[in-house]
Amino acid sequence: MKKEDIRKLIEQMTLEEKAGLCSGDDFWHTKAIERLGIPRTMVSDGPHGLRKQDEAADHLGVNDSIKAVCFPAASATAASFDTEMIRRMGEAIGDSCQHEKLSVVLGPAVNIKRSPLCGRNFEYFSEDPYLAGKMSSSYIQGVQSRNVGTSIKHFAANSQEHRRMSSSSDADERTLREIYFPAFEISIKEAQPWTVMCSYNRINGVFASENHWLLTEVLRDEWGFEGYVMSDWGATARRPEGIEAGLDLEMPASGGANDRKIVEAVRAGKLDEKLVDLCCERILNIVFRYLENAKPETPWDKDAQHLMAADVAADCMVLLKNEDQLLPLSKEDEIAFIGEFAAKPRYQGGGSSHINSFKITGALDAAKEAGLKVTFAQGCTGDQASDAQIEEAVTAAKAAKAAVVFAGLPDSYESEGYDRTHMRMPEGQNRLIEAVAAANPNTVVVLHNGSPVEMPWIGKVKGVLEAYLGGQAVGLAVVRVLFGDVNPSGRLPETFPLKLEDNPSYLYYGGEGNRTEYREGIFVGYRYYDKKKMDVLFPFGYGLSYTTFEYSNLRLSAEKILDTDTVTATVTVKNTGSRAGKNVVQLYVGDVESTPLRPVRELKGFAKVELAPGESKDVSFTLDKRSFAYWNEEIHDWHVESGDFTVEIGTSSRDIALCANVYVESTVALPRHYDENSIFMDIMADPKAKAAIEPFMAKAMSMFGSGEEQSEQASEAVSEEMGMAMFQYMPLRSLMSFSPDMDPKMIEGLLNLLNS
Ligand code: BGC
Repeated sequence: MKKEDIRKLIEQMTLEEKAGLCSGDDFWHTKAIERLGIPRTMVSDGPHGLRKQDEAADHLGVNDSIKAVCFPAASATAASFDTEMIRRMGEAIGDSCQHEKLSVVLGPAVNIKRSPLCGRNFEYFSEDPYLAGKMSSSYIQGVQSRNVGTSIKHFAANSQEHRRMSSSSDADERTLREIYFPAFEISIKEAQPWTVMCSYNRINGVFASENHWLLTEVLRDEWGFEGYVMSDWGATARRPEGIEAGLDLEMPASGGANDRKIVEAVRAGKLDEKLVDLCCERILNIVFRYLENAKPETPWDKDAQHLMAADVAADCMVLLKNEDQLLPLSKEDEIAFIGEFAAKPRYQGGGSSHINSFKITGALDAAKEAGLKVTFAQGCTGDQASDAQIEEAVTAAKAAKAAVVFAGLPDSYESEGYDRTHMRMPEGQNRLIEAVAAANPNTVVVLHNGSPVEMPWIGKVKGVLEAYLGGQAVGLAVVRVLFGDVNPSGRLPETFPLKLEDNPSYLYYGGEGNRTEYREGIFVGYRYYDKKKMDVLFPFGYGLSYTTFEYSNLRLSAEKILDTDTVTATVTVKNTGSRAGKNVVQLYVGDVESTPLRPVRELKGFAKVELAPGESKDVSFTLDKRSFAYWNEEIHDWHVESGDFTVEIGTSSRDIALCANVYVESTVALPRHYDENSIFMDIMADPKAKAAIEPFMAKAMSMFGSGEEQSEQASEAVSEEMGMAMFQYMPLRSLMSFSPDMDPKMIEGLLNLLNS
């Protein structure tokens, strides 16, 4: 429907109808206004499959939803570093939405994995905002190519479950802009999601659902978001304030109470009715966009999607350890599969994303179906492993050529709604792994978890395969990787620290009462570990393959650019092994010298390349201003400080293979204002000011006991460098103390010159 027609519809609506349209009809529907021909539309969770609930719908999945296909969760798909793959997954989900008459799927969830403790990490992509943004925008493009909408969530800074509906995420602007916003920003600019879901929490004291800066100034005015904003379920605090801030749709609804508040506020002259109209317009745009493109005849081939889910999962697996090339296992050998998860994999997390899978394939079934010689011992139940279970597992391990222990986090250990309290796996599972590893030197651990775990047994096992929460077909994928049908190509989208206490947010995570200070600022994940040169268990970007790759010939299209230009980096990647495989080329940028505190390197490009043995390909990345910029709080904008930048190609944030430098020159002069308290160091850093101040400095320095004009005696005591080192922190006014011919008038004159 055309914009004018939607406006005409709104003109015909009563204030009550308009206020009513701004909240849900029930848990999952927008409201109908039958007399005007406006029908209800349905939304559904998401993100990695459909959780479409029936009429008697509840909130947290206690009631069954329809049978659907559960794809790998975002923690896993991020590990693929494969934007094309997640786009195809999005297309499949979009098709199922069309089939099920859903206007919007509630996802992707792109919050930053600030701490391993967040209960919902399994649903989030990464500790890195660029990776999260690129995966998210491809997912959105995939779903929306089918003419159904997405709801990118949870906007913003919702990186903990603890007190999630009351806590305030308190972070400075730079931290929000550089770490917590870009996944949203990239997605909105590149993929224009139909809707955005605002989060439960407050940001610097203001609820996201009534945050005008967030929902209007940043989201719409700056990034150009065109769709509607809905609240997370129950996230609306003060409804009229929400309308004013730009929250269009309250979900689910408040039994009419908040609709009445909107009406009262308008009648009392406290709320502009035009803002209510605007919310209605944005909602109806999407309602009709879906209706006019609805294709309920779209087939939903669940069996085909099950196989697709297996392909996706296989693309996500991260091989963390493979001593003596134990993997891939031989299909001729007898292998012991050990652990409950071999039979019943943990493949998804709890809460609103929980899918009622129409089929689940565990590794044991997959191996048997493939005719492999696999034995099985349960080994544990939940987080417990009894002595008898361990004994049985040890016997099975001893009898086999190799043992594969399926372990990780049980459901209760990580879920929406609450956080973890530690980073450990269940003690029972750790004991099981140690016992099996002692019984069979060829032990591999397959992990099912949504977030990092400690691995006290890492030195005792030969192989570790991180499967994350790999969706309902995860077993097929694991077997393909273990036995070499698929060459693993996933990379860690987050750092695995050695211990929880190493994590940069450790001291502040969870906060005090309703306040969580993001004191580590921009130093989240590898940005912190790399800066501190800390040992980690596995770094960001890490993952092994059954083949080997080599990078060479990194070249830049220019040695020097303006910040308004772009530079292209090209690198050659070669498969130097004997198997076909995919490589994730990672490009990091670092500022060689900078005034603001900056990470050593930040991911600014990645590409997944498939290569036959011996094959090589060129991979190119275009770097623009944002690749080099930091958020400058003074000008409230991205800024590049002129200077050299490193462009690095690596296999992880810790293993850099190639590096080139580019000089980027800023075209933006930062506002400078000097006063009598400005120190020489800052003035000297500004070339124009430096020229003006130099003559005065020389004089003052000689009096101070340094500089060219100093006496012989003074020069023995204080070298020129020492003098300068001490002098640089002095304020301008100190010229009067060290230069007798300076007076306040002259300082004023000098300041006029500097500030001109
Ligand atoms: C979750 C959202 C979800 C919504 C609807 C909320 O509790 O935070 O992610 O989409 O419920 O189920």
